[in-house]
Amino acid sequence: MGEIHPIVVHFAVTLLFAAPLLFWLTKLPALYFLKDLVGPLNGLGSGIGIFALWTGWQLANTGFYAGEDFESHRFLAFSVVIIGSIATIFLLFNRHQNIFSDYLIKVLLLVQGVLIVATGNKGGMLTHGDKPWIKTPHSLSLNKMEGSFTIYDGLIQPIFDLKCIACHQETNKNGGLSLVNFESLMEGGSSGPVIQSGEVNQSLLFERITLSKSSTKYMPPTGWPLNYDEINLIAHWIATGAKKEANLIDHPLTDMRLVSYVEEVYGIKNGFQSKIEKQNGTMWTEEIENILKKYPQYLQRIAVNTNWVSLKIDSFYSADILEEFSNITTSIAWIDAGKSNITLEDFALLGALPNLVRLSLDFNKWDNQAVSQLVNYPSIEFLNLYANPVGEEGIIQLLNEKISLNKLIIGATQVEEGEKSGIIKNYPGVEIL
Ligand code: HEC
Repeated sequence: MGEIHPIVVHFAVTLLFAAPLLFWLTKLPALYFLKDLVGPLNGLGSGIGIFALWTGWQLANTGFYAGEDFESHRFLAFSVVIIGSIATIFLLFNRHQNIFSDYLIKVLLLVQGVLIVATGNKGGMLTHGDKPWIKTPHSLSLNKMEGSFTIYDGLIQPIFDLKCIACHQETNKNGGLSLVNFESLMEGGSSGPVIQSGEVNQSLLFERITLSKSSTKYMPPTGWPLNYDEINLIAHWIATGAKKEANLIDHPLTDMRLVSYVEEVYGIKNGFQSKIEKQNGTMWTEEIENILKKYPQYLQRIAVNTNWVSLKIDSFYSADILEEFSNITTSIAWIDAGKSNITLEDFALLGALPNLVRLSLDFNKWDNQAVSQLVNYPSIEFLNLYANPVGEEGIIQLLNEKISLNKLIIGATQVEEGEKSGIIKNYPGVEIL
């Protein structure tokens, strides 16, 4: 039920905003006749809010959400429901005679609104990162393989997109400078090049973003200024050569503050390097190209500049198709077979899968016996077994033999909490959720 949490929440929020709005509108003589609707509306919102709490609870059990933002989100959500329920009771009592003061109800409804905004904000941070309302939608997902992350496309251009291009694009080229992409940046502006490879302090762009904010030359002159970490990222990129293709493997961040900033804001881990980042995959052949074209709903190239393929198996898969995919078994690096009901026998039709690093089998029926057979896939680093009937025995068998594992998700399996903490203690090298 966890996955419907956002939908349920939006229902509750809509009603819990609509009810106070109606409350104030019914102060108008023309709408006075609707006044008895406010209480039931707020009550319905609070009721759905309680259901939303429950779905949120399920979502939290997946183990994906934890930490301070999560704790505050949960606390605020509880407060919304409690305040909403109290306001509802007062509203219902007041339907026929004024038992509770109107003033008190107004305050409760205001608090209700403020709490909803705060809850939504924290919830947004959980799913979209810090400051969800100003984050531009970066197209990070494809290249999200840790380490191989391209610094310019992934980290630098998004900063320009958010804070500079309003005044620096082809149609509005202030100072003769366009910052829409790497090439235009390198063309420079009316003063010439703005980036000197390897020379942070000689680079005009760096100078302009680090001037005193009161200087008329400071960039950006209006709008959001660059923060400390963004300036340091730009410095890191210039210092390491200002190359378009530079990535975090060749030029790892060394400043720990920057490492955690990048981890937090962009969700990129600097430390662990996946097998498929170290190699670029098998040759890209016409056969691979053709299979991808034939089954676009199943197969995708992980990123334009790699030869690795991801495979999404849904519950409509057939044995014939899986056998066809076995022709490109060495190219497959990620498989998402969540909710597909795939069996071990069918999975085996995909062939040896020597480069499979990421496997999601959530919401399937894999037991100890099936899971222990995964030792035959030598490269699995990330394994999601959420909501499978596997127990401690199968997990331990796997962990004993699978040295490649880096992250393992065993929420909602038959592994009990006590057993889980034992496993976490005994296998410190693997992140177990
Ligand atoms: C509100 C508009 C505005 C924003 C936003 C803005 N700039 Fe500018 N920028 C200008 C104007 C106007 C000039 C030309 C006048 C000058 O040089 O100060 C300029 C000039 C520059 C120059 C000098 C170009 C040259 O060759 O002389 C650089 C470098 C620069 N901006 C970088 C940036 C960066 C980096 C950002 C984002 C962090 C940014 N600007 C955001 C308006 C803006």
